[in-house]
Amino acid sequence: MVREFASREVKPIAAALDRDHRFPSELVARMGELGLMGIEVPPELDGSGLDPVAYVLAMEEISAACASTGVIMSVNNSLVCDPLMKFATAAQKERWLRPLARGERLGCFQLSEPNAGSDAAAQKTKAVRDGGDFVINGVKNWITNGPQADVGILFAMTAPELGHRGITAFIIDMHEEGVSRGPKDDKLGIRASHSCQIFYTDHRVAADRVLGKVGDGFRVAMATLDCGRIGIAAQALGIARAAYEAALEYSTDRQTFGKRIADHQAISFMLADMATEIDAARLLTLRAAGLKARGARHTKESAMAKLFASETANKVAKNALQIFGGNGYVTEYPAERHFRDAKITEIYEGTSEIQRVVIAASIVSRK
Ligand code: CAA
Repeated sequence: MVREFASREVKPIAAALDRDHRFPSELVARMGELGLMGIEVPPELDGSGLDPVAYVLAMEEISAACASTGVIMSVNNSLVCDPLMKFATAAQKERWLRPLARGERLGCFQLSEPNAGSDAAAQKTKAVRDGGDFVINGVKNWITNGPQADVGILFAMTAPELGHRGITAFIIDMHEEGVSRGPKDDKLGIRASHSCQIFYTDHRVAADRVLGKVGDGFRVAMATLDCGRIGIAAQALGIARAAYEAALEYSTDRQTFGKRIADHQAISFMLADMATEIDAARLLTLRAAGLKARGARHTKESAMAKLFASETANKVAKNALQIFGGNGYVTEYPAERHFRDAKITEIYEGTSEIQRVVIAASIVSRK
């Protein structure tokens, strides 16, 4: 079903969405109708009730058609619905998760700040208790879905003296007073997915907006990213597959020196490496999803999947563009879009360097 939707409705407009930097509201609405905005949310809360493996398969299909649409879906599923499923109270789920899973509202995840990207614990946004409420001030950066989001999962310092143990997660209604959005970021790739800064100015929330426990926010963020990284691995896989399939088709059509370029060993070896590495990335991603489905810890496996899939996407997209030659460098063909779209997968939800930190921490024992 997802493959059919992606090929009929998403792929045909992907290049135009990218060219025009246009957020695909109509596709997001359709994904809501098709149950793609809350894939793992149980049916009692209006989700599709499917498992993480199904989520990976769907993410690969959507992202192969349009990487921007893929990340819009991924943020709503992995970074917003997922922590609400895990940490929200029954009342919070009813109020916030149900409309998100139906695709009637859109979510965003607000961890990064101008000076807290990789060093996520260095939060400067503050939430100060005032009676039964919290008053929030600060700035969040590069927030995917930020310009359109109705709901935000926000991380803020409630006790700066405690470091990462002083961070608390909040559920934010993005339309309330004291929350404002900066202009959308002008980006290299995934240009139909919009991000922006979010500003908090004396934004007041009641204590029933705390997600999980006060002081538990860093753990909420890390556990959420363990799942989010599976989604980005699947997005990278989709981009890699799209670049590879386009290069394969082109190289069996284009002729040089009296034969198809795919019949030259230099090109055929590139294709062989692409096919092998894409399969390896897919297997790592499915392994992480399978562990999550069984309720096992998958921090290392998610980081490995995200690291390998994103680096594969970049390598495949680079070589695919090379196979297209001059045609790869112009916007008439999709190779340059895949090349630009691939880059972000090595940066967001933890850079490749951070994935190596996470993997190393789980294999090298601490002194
Ligand atoms: N699950 C649960 N708890 C975890 C955890 C995990 N995966 N990882 C760490 N923790 C806990 C630790 O057990 C530790 O607990 P204690 O309170 O008992 O000490 C605590 O968190 C601190 O752990 P570390 O000492 O390892 O923390 P650190 O400050 O060294 O940072 C890091 C670790 C892995 C580098 C982390 O900062 C990180 O992941 N950074 C990258 C941030 C990131 O990925 N940002 C992405 C933004 S969202 C985004 O990109 C969305 C988008 O646009 C699409």
